[in-house]
Amino acid sequence: MGQFDMVKDFFLGISRSRISLIGGMLVTITTPFLVSYMLADTIWHIKNPYFGAAVYLALGPVFLGGLAMIFIGAFFFRGDRDVHLFTLQYLRRYFTEPDMFGRLRRNVFLIVLLTSVNFAVFSMFLYRAYHYMESTQFCGQFCHTVMAPEHTAYKNSPHSRVSCVECHIGSGADWFVKSKISGARQLLAVATGTYPTPILTPVHGLRPARDTCEECHRPELFHGDKLNVSKSFLPDEQNSVVSNVLLMKIGSAGDRAQSSHGIHWHVAPENKITYRATEYNRMVIPEVTLTQADGTVTVFRTADAEELLQETEQSGDEREMDCIDCHNRPSHVYLPPDDALDRKLSEGDIPQNLPYIKRQAMELITASYKTSNEARETISDGLNSWYKENYPQLVAEKPQLLESAVAGVVAAYAENVFPEMKVEWGTYVNHISHGPDFDIGCFRCHDDMHESPDGKVISADCNTCHTLLAIEETDPEILKTLQGQNL
Ligand code: HEC
Ligand code: HEC
Ligand code: HEC
Ligand code: HEC
Ligand code: HEC
Repeated sequence: MGQFDMVKDFFLGISRSRISLIGGMLVTITTPFLVSYMLADTIWHIKNPYFGAAVYLALGPVFLGGLAMIFIGAFFFRGDRDVHLFTLQYLRRYFTEPDMFGRLRRNVFLIVLLTSVNFAVFSMFLYRAYHYMESTQFCGQFCHTVMAPEHTAYKNSPHSRVSCVECHIGSGADWFVKSKISGARQLLAVATGTYPTPILTPVHGLRPARDTCEECHRPELFHGDKLNVSKSFLPDEQNSVVSNVLLMKIGSAGDRAQSSHGIHWHVAPENKITYRATEYNRMVIPEVTLTQADGTVTVFRTADAEELLQETEQSGDEREMDCIDCHNRPSHVYLPPDDALDRKLSEGDIPQNLPYIKRQAMELITASYKTSNEARETISDGLNSWYKENYPQLVAEKPQLLESAVAGVVAAYAENVFPEMKVEWGTYVNHISHGPDFDIGCFRCHDDMHESPDGKVISADCNTCHTLLAIEETDPEILKTLQGQNL
């Protein structure tokens, strides 16, 4: 067996095992890139999602695999001479040799050093990779086309500074693990092109809002009413402005001094509301159950509830109402076409003094397009040719009016419609209100048709949720009063 030198034997073992050699090569090649990228990322917070993916999802695992191969190779390699390293026989002999202890000390030192270097690289890798996978760049931009709708809508929302994981994962190890399992499934779906278009909603595995939204918001501290003023533009020549003024009964989820009331009464701990929907989208809700703190249970049902629930597979799927049943679009806000244009007109991205722009834009953005490029070109050509034909003088005198209108209208479309992912107008409905069409929101329950055995109904009375101070009025009196002009 010759001289015992564990370190020498170790390297000899590695050099004789092909597996270890390949592993060693992989580690040597990847380490400089990995370490320098991780240092750069720590210092400068690199925002490019593809660099991150290359390093943390490809290079990193190669490095880890290389390390593992070195040891596996050395462990299993049974060559001739002193490379039975890690076999029981070798170790037994090694430790029973009388003059081994001096040598052992040196080896231990070396092993500790090597191991701590590896451990440092390894833990830094885990730490950075964890941050990368929790980053908005990774969630929102890595699978570019697939997440384009959600990421775009998110960027234009009040939550654009809240990272994806704060709503989709939240804190705690169990949801972290769950999210990584479902994340791996999603990556696979993207790699194999088997993801659904559009991406399904509602997200049935979403974490209860109590653990996410309520980390930042406290509806028990809400109080009173909130004035809600919105402007819209009519499809006439002047793009006339009309206003809605609503006093929203925001209410409170109830705290020490105040009892729960108004809109946030639903999320008070003493009012538990569960409901059963007939389909995946939770649009048709035939049965609602209210359980109060004193034990009173009230079941509200529509006349056809029995029949509807029997027909469906989902009838057993009972859900407890939380923030998401109203605020289902706190972050991915897709506006209806009318609102999308009104907003651009209000913000001045589309000039309000271009005649008929609301009407013409509405016609163009609601047409159906196969790709984003086709939409952009058709909208642009459509506006240019219509204005050149009908307002040639205006276009000649103030070309910038038409130019900025085109940009604004194209943006109104591109922020809300994604033909590549089959996200059209209205694909993702918002439940926070009650629209005239598919977006019935609150009216899924509040329709005067859900009745309890003793004849109580979930109210559709217009004053339950708001006081209507002005509806589509030009220059409403109430606004003048509020602004002090009527004094
Ligand atoms: C303020 C909280 C919040 C943030 C931040 C957030 N989301 Fe969401 N997300 C939601 C809610 C709520 C839903 C809809 C849940 C439902 O209806 O079941 C949703 C739904 C989704 C869906 C399903 C499709 C859809 O539109 O319903 C995807 C995909 C998604 N989010 C991705 C992301 C990505 C990527 C980010 C970061 C760029 C992000 N989310 C940030 C709250 C959030
Ligand atoms: C990490 C903290 C955080 C989390 C988590 C969070 N929000 Fe918010 N939310 C904010 C902040 C900050 C604002 C204020 C943004 C502003 O005014 O521009 C806000 C604003 C809002 C608003 C008012 C929006 C408006 O148009 O004025 C609503 C409604 C809301 N959040 C609901 C939710 C819901 C529902 C969830 C859970 C799905 C949630 N938030 C999760 C921080 C958070
Ligand atoms: C029954 C439906 C419903 C539920 C459930 C609900 N909200 Fe609201 N929330 C509303 C409505 C409606 C508004 C007013 C929207 C408006 O007109 O601006 C609102 C307003 C808000 C605002 C803005 C308040 C302000 O004064 O500007 C926040 C923040 C908010 N909700 C958070 C939450 C959170 C967090 C939860 C869950 C604990 C929740 N909401 C549950 C319907 C609901
Ligand atoms: C899943 C069903 C459901 C949905 C969706 C729903 N509600 Fe309710 N809501 C109820 C029930 C049940 C009651 C209690 C009815 C009763 O006891 O008279 C209620 C009561 C209320 C009340 C009266 C609370 C009080 O002070 O007693 C308000 C205000 C209200 N809802 C607002 C809204 C708004 C606004 C929306 C939409 C953003 C909405 N609700 C969506 C089920 C629902
Ligand atoms: C269950 C609660 C509830 C009931 C009942 C209700 N509304 Fe509303 N309404 C809302 C909410 C929530 C909004 C959204 C406010 C916002 O834009 O944030 C809204 C918005 C509106 C708007 C403004 C729409 C816009 O685009 O600005 C009008 C108009 C309106 N409601 C009329 C009515 C009328 C008329 C009735 C009676 C038939 C009624 N509502 C009953 C909750 C309710």
